[in-house]
Formats: sequence, structure tokens, C-alpha cells
Amino acid sequence: MNVLEQAMILPNGSILNNRIAKSAMSENLSNKHHEPTPVLINLYKKWAQSGAGLLITGNIMIDSKALGEPRNVVVENRKNFEMLKEWAQSVKGTNTHLWAQINHPGRQAMEQINSDLKAPSAVPLKSGGRKNITKKIPTALNESEILAIIEAFGNTAMILKDAGFSGVQIHGAHGYLVSQFLSPYSNVRTDKWGGSLEKRAQFVIEVYRKIRARVGSNFPIGIKLNSADFQKGGFSEEESMEVVKILSEEGIDLIEISGGTYEAPAMMGKRKESTIKREVYFMDYIEKARKKTNTPLMLTGGFRTTSVMKDAVASNQLDIIGIARPFAVYPNIGNEIFNKSRINFNTEIKKTGVKGIDGAMNIIWYESQIKRLGKEKTPKPDLNPWSVFLKYSLLILEQKLTKNLLKKTMFFIFHSGER
Ligand SMILES: Cc1cc2nc3c(=O)[nH]c(=O)nc-3n(C[C@H](O)[C@H](O)[C@H](O)COP(=O)(O)O)c2cc1C
Repeated sequence: MNVLEQAMILPNGSILNNRIAKSAMSENLSNKHHEPTPVLINLYKKWAQSGAGLLITGNIMIDSKALGEPRNVVVENRKNFEMLKEWAQSVKGTNTHLWAQINHPGRQAMEQINSDLKAPSAVPLKSGGRKNITKKIPTALNESEILAIIEAFGNTAMILKDAGFSGVQIHGAHGYLVSQFLSPYSNVRTDKWGGSLEKRAQFVIEVYRKIRARVGSNFPIGIKLNSADFQKGGFSEEESMEVVKILSEEGIDLIEISGGTYEAPAMMGKRKESTIKREVYFMDYIEKARKKTNTPLMLTGGFRTTSVMKDAVASNQLDIIGIARPFAVYPNIGNEIFNKSRINFNTEIKKTGVKGIDGAMNIIWYESQIKRLGKEKTPKPDLNPWSVFLKYSLLILEQKLTKNLLKKTMFFIFHSGER
């Protein structure tokens, strides 16, 4: 039997049917109120037939006042419980797990859609690899705000479990809030949440413990963690490995390894060619991490050919192959890997040639393909990058106008009462 077809038992006893997982990709398919939509649910019905043993949703926000992107789903209460149930049911009748990735963006957010930016410390981003991510100085969170966010992670996880998702994943990578706490560059606090690695890791430990307390011991909890931030003064490989050890001892069920932030997007392969080992981005790291933990490891970034995926699992350096962008253009990828009808899942895309725009293209081009899948259209590998950019810009403009209109209306209502 192909090693990729072997089942995997997680520490809590849950079984993943095979070694292929769809890694999180922000779908940007909520409605204006950040509620799940039929197009989003359709998309997961499609991916449920992909043959993958695990699907991880795009990041779901835990707080409507802290948004990563304009059309993120937010789960902070049970208002949309029926739609969440339908989403969870999208995999019904298959052996596919559906885990929800939960996230708080902290300082790595769009100014246009967040009135207030909160982060571990008042350290702004230097630049965003993705258009519209702000360089505005965030406000440092106070103790009670930190505790409220930890509580919110637990609350969101519990709602998603009750709705029928079969696991949750903490987004602890790519420069969002959890990874901001871990990094000595973005976390310069001098209280119990900053300083030594032990203190910087306290936030993710408390988030994990809160979720565990809410969902119980039988429900899988995973994390996506950076192997490193690839930034001077940022979270290092040695520190990351220490966190792997700590979370393994805490009892986490699956650790997915990625790397980088939107300032230094290593997760998209923006690294020295020499550090990419046979198409895969963080292989050196995983080999070292394997020696530190018995917790199942998933590696994401660059996997494109069946032979490389097979070798990686057969080498026992990792357990689960994480795949993101190929799922947007090869929605049947799991089955194609197993029945050998395709062996290469190349994802080269056309670019505009304008550097500032092409930074964002690596995300928004795939989001457009994802939307096509949700609308029951076939992928379009020759999709024009300019039309993708135009549509995205209109979406941002619409959000900005709505926000300004809302502000003006509030101002009018408030001041008309004074007359
Ligand atoms: C459109 C798009 C959206 C993404 N959204 C997320 C996300 O919500 N959460 C996350 O952890 N990673 C996200 N990623 C990163 C992917 O999960 C993955 O780490 C990266 O694309 C590298 O894997 P690949 O080479 O298989 O695509 C996103 C990537 C793309 C292309």
C-alpha cells in the first residue's frame, strides 16, 4: 500500500484516514457580516470529495473587531450556528476530518477594516508582503484584554465543536497574534507575557489550555507553528523547537510546520533556493524537530509531486503532508495522488510584472480559484492576474466606503441629538 494511504492515529485516538491534508487557505467567502455563505459550504462539499484525510478551513476570526481580511468568517457567538452546522456537515458521508483554523490577526491586519489594532507591543509592521496590510502603530494589549482574547479562543473552539467540526487548529504561524507573542521582535513586553521564551510562549500555552478545557480531552487540537520568522531579531528555529516540545508535553494532537510572516513570506517559498530541499520549504527543520517530539508532525509548503510526498512520509521525518495552493487548482488532488492519474501538481501562475501587485497575487489569485470552486465552476489556470487584482481592489474599496458611510451616519445621528 502507498504510504500516503496509511491511516494515522492521533494522540487522543482520533484517526485520520490518510496522510494528505489540505492546509488552511483563507477563502474570503463570508458575506459582509462575516457569516458563512452557501458558496463557502459548497466549496467544502467539493473538497470533501478530494480524497484528503484532513481539511483545515481558512482562518476563522475569533473577534469581529479584529479582522484579517474583508470576508473572513467570524465566530464569536452562536448567531450563525445553523450555517456553521451546515459547513461542518459538508464532509458528511466521507472519511474526511474537517478542522477549523482559528485566528486573531493582532497587528498584521488591514487598517481599512479595523478601527483599532491591538498587539503584544506597540511595534508596527515594517512592510506587508500583502497589499493593504497596515504599518500603523498598534496599541499594546493590557492584561485584561489578553485574558479576554484567550477566553475568546476557547469560546470560538467550543462553538465550532458543538457545530460539528471534528477538530480545531490554532493559527500560531505567519506573523498573526500568537506568533507576535512568540517573537522577541514584536513582543517587547516586560510583564509575564514577554521577555524570556518561556514568558513569550505563555500566551499560546494559555490559549491551548483554555481550548482544551472547553472542548475536552477527546477532541483534536492542532497548531500551525512557524519553524522561524525569517526576520532579524524574530522567533528563531531553536525557539520554535522549544515550543514544539512544550506543546507536545501539554498534549497537543498535531503540529503543522510552516514559516515566515507577511513581512517575510517564507511560507510562500520566498527563501533562498539552497534552503528548499527537493521542492519542500522547511524539511531541514522538521528533521530536527522530529528528534524533540513524538507528537504527529505535518509539514506544509512546496509539496507538488507524489514522489516527494511519499519519500517524506516513508522517511518517518513527518506524518502528514500539508498542501495548500494545489487544492485551489486540482480539487481532486487526494484521489489523483492515490490512483496515480496525476503525479505533478504544479502551481506556477501568471504575474502582472508589477512588484507591488504581484506580492499580493500569490494569495488573491488562488482566492479567485477557490471562489470558482465554491460556485461550482472548474479551476481556470490561465486566469488573468489583472482581472483578479481589479476585483480585489473593488472589494477593499467597497469595505472602506461602507465603513466611512457608517461613520458619517453615526456622526449625524449623534450630532442631530445635540441640536
Ligand atoms: C489563498 C491563500 C490563503 C491562505 N490562507 C491561510 C490561512 O488562512 N491560514 C494559514 O495558516 N495559512 C494560509 N495560507 C498559507 C498556506 O496554508 C500554506 O502554508 C502556503 O500556501 C504554502 O503551502 P503550499 O506551497 O502547499 O501552497 C494561505 C495561502 C494561500 C495561497
